[in-house]
Amino acid sequence: MEDDVPDPEPLGGDLIDPTVATPARIYSYLLGGKDHSPADRAAAEKALEAMPVRDFARVNRAFLTRAVRHLAETGLDQFLDLGIGLPAPGSAAETALSVRPDARIVGVDNDPTVLAHARAHRGDPELSGATIVAGDVRRPAEILGNPEVRGRLDFDRPVAVLLVAVLHFVVDEDDPYGAVRTLMDAVAPGSVLVLSQVTADLDPEGIRATAKTYARSSVRTAVRSSKEIAAFFDGLEPVDPGLVLLSQWRPDQHVLAGDDRIGLYGGVALKR
Ligand SMILES: C[S@@+](CC[C@H](N)C(=O)[O-])C[C@H]1O[C@@H](n2cnc3c(N)ncnc32)[C@H](O)[C@@H]1O
Repeated sequence: MEDDVPDPEPLGGDLIDPTVATPARIYSYLLGGKDHSPADRAAAEKALEAMPVRDFARVNRAFLTRAVRHLAETGLDQFLDLGIGLPAPGSAAETALSVRPDARIVGVDNDPTVLAHARAHRGDPELSGATIVAGDVRRPAEILGNPEVRGRLDFDRPVAVLLVAVLHFVVDEDDPYGAVRTLMDAVAPGSVLVLSQVTADLDPEGIRATAKTYARSSVRTAVRSSKEIAAFFDGLEPVDPGLVLLSQWRPDQHVLAGDDRIGLYGGVALKR
């Protein structure tokens, strides 16, 4: 289910337009972060009328944290966090570094607010712990060729490729499946794909209303079925418990009653 609004102007370089809501700033608002404008707050509040999107953000972020902790504990020390977003607790960098202080994390985002924030705090690893570069998931070859990415991560060793709550902002005509394939082809055996994405399988009406809110933001949205999301893992070996609702992915004490009603699928899969 894709929205039918025309493709918005691409986020131009360093141009920050606070009057147009962006997913990164809406998400920051939903997670209790500090980086958002009145337009972002209005979009989030409108979405909250249709669906418990704050719970979506919390459940998603908790999955990211659990997945990164699991991977760091099982030996991974390189993380490519695509669509890293704005600083908020439970980030991949904070989590990976808490387990493995030697971990290397590169974040990529196409929202100029994320990049401006990263620039302002460059050299201050306590604030993000990640090297953050400009890049667009729709152009994976540019990300893979970026000298900062290459300089920080060793592609001859396993890398965790994170696409957490990003691919529902990449519509099919922008070939998200090809992007995932390109990224996973570039990493060494032993690498993993960590992925989550919104589904309409649980609440089609709520999702439709929420997608309309996001249609006025800087991006288009693509909500997918569990089958369509599973196709992102083609050619990879699912790590137990496979592709599931996020509340079912190695749950811990932070998974709350009712989280099984949150329509987000995700999982981790291994490149042999
Ligand atoms: C909902 S946030 C998720 C943040 C983080 N990955 C998490 O799960 O906690 C989505 C992020 O993806 C970024 N994003 C959306 N489309 C993108 C694209 N085509 N390329 C790179 N980043 C993108 C947004 O700017 C935003 O920071």
